[in-house]
Parts: sequence; C-alpha cells; structure tokens
Amino acid sequence: MPVRVLVTGGAGFIGSHFAERLLAVGDDAIVLDKLTYAGKEGNVPKGAVFVRGDIAVKETVDAVPEFDAIVNFAAETHVDRSILGPHDFARTDVLGALVLAEVARERGVRLVQVSTDEVYGDVVEPAREDATLRPSSPYSASKAGGDLQVLAAVRTYGIDACITRGSNTYGPRQFPEKLIPLFVTNALDGEPLPLYGDGRQVRDWLHVEDHCAAIELVLRTGESGELYNVGTGDQRENVDVAQSILELTEADPALLRRVDDRPGHDRRYSLDASKIRTLGWEPKRSFDEGLEDTVQWYRENRSWWEPLKSGEYRAYYERQYAERLR
Ligand code: NAD
Ligand code: DAU
Repeated sequence: MPVRVLVTGGAGFIGSHFAERLLAVGDDAIVLDKLTYAGKEGNVPKGAVFVRGDIAVKETVDAVPEFDAIVNFAAETHVDRSILGPHDFARTDVLGALVLAEVARERGVRLVQVSTDEVYGDVVEPAREDATLRPSSPYSASKAGGDLQVLAAVRTYGIDACITRGSNTYGPRQFPEKLIPLFVTNALDGEPLPLYGDGRQVRDWLHVEDHCAAIELVLRTGESGELYNVGTGDQRENVDVAQSILELTEADPALLRRVDDRPGHDRRYSLDASKIRTLGWEPKRSFDEGLEDTVQWYRENRSWWEPLKSGEYRAYYERQYAERLR
C-alpha cells in the first residue's frame, strides 16, 4: 500500500530529492515548506502536493491533511549564516522539531528527524551515535537541540521516531552558498573561490542520492528511538575539493584565494556509520564520480542557479566575503 509522507523542507536541496524518490516508488509526498531564501517551489517534484508553511507554527502543521509519516528536512542549514544571525536557527531547528514531535504524537505517526554529523563537533576518531554532543556553531547547537527534543518525546510520550545524522552532502540543486555549489558556480563565472584558513579541514562527502536512500531505509525499517549516522568515509581536505573543482571546470587556478577562517571552524568530521550499514545501506557513488556529475549538472543548469545569485544572496555574499576578499 502506498505510504503518504509529509516531507517538511521538501522545496530545499535534500528534501526535494527525497520527495522525488518517494514518488518514484509509488508513495505519496506532501511537501510543507516555508520557502525561505533556500527553498524554491520549482524544486518540488511534479506529483507532490505542495503546502507553503512554517514547521514552527503548530496550527499550520495541524492544517495539513492526513499522512502516515513525517520526514523533517526543514531547517536553517548554513553555518556561516548562523554565525551572522543565530535566532532563526533556534526557532526552526529546535522549536520546529518540537512541533513536529508533538504532531507525530497526536497523530500516532512516525517521525524521521534529519540531523547532521556536526552535532558531534570536530572529531579525531570516527564518531559513533553515542558520542558526546559538542556542537561548535549556532547551527549545530540548534540541530542538537532539535534532536534532543525528539529523543525526549520518544522517552516521555513514547512517540515513534528515529534520527539520522548525515555528513556533508552534495549534488544537483544545492543552494550556491555551500562549499561545492559555491565553488563550482564561481569557477564557471570566473569569480574567486574563497578558501577558509589553511584549507586543510576535512569533510566526509555523501552524494544526495545515497543520503536519501539511507533516510528512506530508516523511515521504513529503523527502530524507534534509534540514531543512525550516515557517512561514506570518503574524506577530503577542502583544498583538494577546490583543486578538483578547478580541474573539472577548467578554470584558472589563480581563482583560488585563501581568506580569513570561519570562527569556531570544525577541523574534521568523521563518522562511524556501521549501524546504518547493518540495516543494509551502502553508498553507490564515489566522490570523484559524484563530483564530476554535479559539476556537469551546474554547467547544464545555469537557469536554475543564476537567478539565485542576485538580490538577497548578493547582500549576503557581500557581507560574508567582501572584506575577506579585499
Ligand atoms: P536547504 O537549506 O537546502 O533546505 C532547507 C529547506 O527548509 C528550504 O526549502 C527552506 O525553505 C525550508 N525551511 C526553512 N525553515 C523552514 C520552516 N520554519 N518551516 C518550513 N520550511 C522551512 O537544506 P538541505 O541541505 O537540503 O538540508 C536538509 C536537512 O538535512 C536539514 O535539516 C539539514 O540540517 C540536514 N543535513 C544537511 C546536510 C548538508 O550537507 N546539506 C548534511 C546533513 C544533514
Ligand atoms: O556535515 C554536515 C553539514 O554540512 C550540514 O549539516 C550543513 O547543513 C551543511 O551546510 C554542511 O556544513 P559545513 O559547514 O561543513 O558545509 P559548508 O559547505 O559551509 O563548508 C564545507 C567546508 O568548506 C567547511 O570546512 C568550510 C569550508 N568553506 C566553506 C565555504 C562556504 C570554505 O573554505 N569557503 C567557503 O566559502
């Protein structure tokens, strides 16, 4: 029987791929999204029902007709923006998660809270799901707060909920503020690639389709109250990612510019993802192959990203980079 899933944040990057995935297997998707600067109605796949609204307003979520499960992608997601202004992050990422936990309780439906490896802070050894939470940025502190609300609702009210903690995700339709789409689109435009600090920070890269496959598996087979790390172990230093992008876009290597570091910058993320692998998940794309496809997508889809780089984005970009690049 088809499942009807409420995909919150489904007009953003990962949520829109997830909604597409549900529709492809015959399930129904209702996308609830506030359409912040990061959300685009055009990202919502054909066949999904779209409702514009805020997850932190309970009456809005209450007004959504019947569904069997909630998968929560809705969040403020960019670390640099959280450093410039953390309040929206606390509201959506903590209060929003609390509202969805309440709705899951009242309706008796499963909630999958999509979280992040950033809640562990920077690590030396791969973090397991029981590692201490040491968030470094207002963004990761808010995501950790959302996770704790969901876990408390499992323990106190017995709601049916799981949490996934994914690593750095990349692929088509990612907003051009994050490292890979920012560097790819800047390289294609002959603009500088602003590399923070020494560029030797390490991230564990995960293709969006592999991330969505893991979340789908947890939705269908995860155990309530459990957390699942999702990472490939394909770890790269930022400077190497930047070099690969310069090569793939055939851009001038002189575009790479070392700039002042991000405050509180986590040095390394690394996950022990053995638990999700026991559910049967394994990544299907290598980083090299995934990056090549992603660069190709941005080359062929200028009409998707060019309009995003004006207006609000321009003002943010100036604030974030103008001084650093001077
Ligand atoms: P995104 O910024 O591309 O999309 C977020 C979406 O949420 C947007 O469509 C936005 O309009 C919507 N939204 C924001 N506030 C809302 C609110 N109050 N109510 C309803 N909708 C709201 O983000 P993404 O990269 O697709 O991330 C999705 C989820 O995955 C987030 O929870 C994020 O923390 C998590 N995550 C992301 C990554 C990554 O590398 N991108 C990795 C691990 C986990
Ligand atoms: O690890 C999962 C997280 O990955 C998600 O939870 C977040 O939503 C997502 O934004 C991402 O966080 P990061 O801070 O790791 O991603 P970002 O793309 O902002 O930066 C990746 C690395 O690149 C990081 O070490 C900072 C660096 N960087 C980033 C930007 C935007 C630069 O050197 N220059 C830049 O201009």
